[in-house]
Amino acid sequence: MTTYVNADEAVHSRTSAIKLHGPADFEGMRAAGRLAAEILDAVAPHVVPGVTTEEIDRIVYDMTIAGGAVPATMHYRGYTHSCCISINHVVCHGIPGSRTLKDGDIVNVDVTPLLNGWHGDSSRMYLAGDVGVKSRRLVEVTHECLMLGIEQAKPGNRLGDISHAIQTHAEKHRYGVVRDFCGHGLGRVFHDAPEVVHIGRPGTGPELKPGMFFTIEPMINIGRPDVKMLDDGWTAVTRDRSLSAQFEHSIGITETGCEIFTLSPRGLHRPPYA
Ligand code: MF3
Ligand code: CO
Ligand code: CO
Repeated sequence: MTTYVNADEAVHSRTSAIKLHGPADFEGMRAAGRLAAEILDAVAPHVVPGVTTEEIDRIVYDMTIAGGAVPATMHYRGYTHSCCISINHVVCHGIPGSRTLKDGDIVNVDVTPLLNGWHGDSSRMYLAGDVGVKSRRLVEVTHECLMLGIEQAKPGNRLGDISHAIQTHAEKHRYGVVRDFCGHGLGRVFHDAPEVVHIGRPGTGPELKPGMFFTIEPMINIGRPDVKMLDDGWTAVTRDRSLSAQFEHSIGITETGCEIFTLSPRGLHRPPYA
């Protein structure tokens, strides 16, 4: 989500810049995406009260390296960690550190292994200890938003169809859809065209074509959509301090629909994972 556009002003007008990929490229993304998913699977038992976020970052680093990849976030625009870990009212890009997870925290872990030149970008929510019903509901609906968006990802549809499905579902639950960050094309490039905003009108934006690769990664707030940047220059939080959740998949448009490169091999799609 790291294209810093205001989605209110975002235009879906860069069709010509969206790369179309072939079968060998799908193979590359399949491998990178699978590693991302395996890392997120492996993290699940460690997201518990008492663990620090830098311990989770270490697990991500070790698994990324063991998988023959490097964390794409490392040294990316000055970032120095292997993943982003965003807790409670943190919308995205939380920096791993000495903070200890507390009972009731909702936690996003976002990983991007770069494997053989291909970026597998994915994030999931985790529940630390006993999480309240309002938080769990937010996490559930945010996952539904992602999957409803993915259902619209097929040739002939437009990018706005994805955005619209996400916005409609979130707002039906009176949640706020974050405008300041969006999904993105990816592949050999980490953040590429198109910008995949999570609000929009059906039938607008570029037409989806087989071979397009991009992420969908809605950030959904219990309260208002507005975000604020912290002084560290990375951490984005909700302005009203309401809870925020996010899930992210990397997908490729196929002849008939799409392939999700980052699906959990162990079926750990959303919590509870136990
Ligand atoms: N993985 C994030 C995304 O979904 C990007 C994080 S960039 C970082 O696009 F530098 F903040 F790590
Ligand atoms: Co992303
Ligand atoms: Co990501």
